[in-house]
Amino acid sequence: MSDIVQRINQLKEEKNAVILAHNYQREEIQRIADFVGDSLELCIKAKETDADIIVFCGVDFMAETAKILNSDKKVLIPEIKDIECPMAHQLPAEVVRRAKEEHPDAMVVVYVNTLAETKALADATCTSANADRVVNSLDCDKVLFGPDRNLAYFVSKRTNKEIIPIPEDGHCYVHKKFTVEDVKRVRREYPNAELLVHPECDPEVQDLADYVLSTGGMIRHVLNSDKKEFIIGTECELITRIKLELEKTGEEKVLIPLRKDAICDPMKRITLEKVERCLREEKYEITLDEEIIKKARIAIERMLSVKI
Ligand code: 13P
Ligand code: SF4
Repeated sequence: MSDIVQRINQLKEEKNAVILAHNYQREEIQRIADFVGDSLELCIKAKETDADIIVFCGVDFMAETAKILNSDKKVLIPEIKDIECPMAHQLPAEVVRRAKEEHPDAMVVVYVNTLAETKALADATCTSANADRVVNSLDCDKVLFGPDRNLAYFVSKRTNKEIIPIPEDGHCYVHKKFTVEDVKRVRREYPNAELLVHPECDPEVQDLADYVLSTGGMIRHVLNSDKKEFIIGTECELITRIKLELEKTGEEKVLIPLRKDAICDPMKRITLEKVERCLREEKYEITLDEEIIKKARIAIERMLSVKI
């Protein structure tokens, strides 16, 4: 074990801290984390933990969500600069307020990839793992849904409710890179592979895939399938994550990225050195307005009450 990993483990124990990491984190972060998961699994873990300090290795909205679910705990993020998920900033609270005025009969579902003040205006949050189930659980015919227009498309194919995307063009810059041309190329090169894509991909890419799944859904699919080859249509580090799982079982599978440049830069800002400093200096702390926490928590709890 390297010196830095030893120091991290020691600090974690001294301070009763837990390290939560998203599936897109660098390999060395995935290896030292207590739990690695998709955004829904991380919400559930954040809610269940009895640690005094949560060190969140992910992007801004994920650490905020952990804080909303643990207002009495210290939630830290190892880096504060350039860790914003651009999509989460595409749906300002003001846009939700205006849309609610225009559609007073609609309920509001926002992706967890939103800021806390936007969540505070929603009836429920959702992740890519449960978006269709959350929408279908609501007692209404019309849903204002944002910010990801592609996730709105995914949901609209799985519900009879009217889905109104807010804003018009919300998207993830990483998943936007995948094109129909990419799909045709990999299908030619790997005719026996299954194509798994994330619901943040464009509709035409989703329509050509074998499965449209959250990152957690992709991991489970690969691990439980009899198939040997998979093309992964999401951020490239998910392949690292699946390989670490396969290492445990000794099973060999071929994992091909749909594009090698599908990299989420904000997710890569966290390093082992920053995690060590974060634990030692207890910074950077996530702080949110109490009123916002109270309201956003109701929307998140509503999502968590929907069974998968
Ligand atoms: P998951 O919920 O599948 O982990 O996705 C989160 C995300 O930000 C995808 O870009
Ligand atoms: Fe945000 Fe896209 Fe990165 Fe996910 S992959 S955190 S949606 S920028």
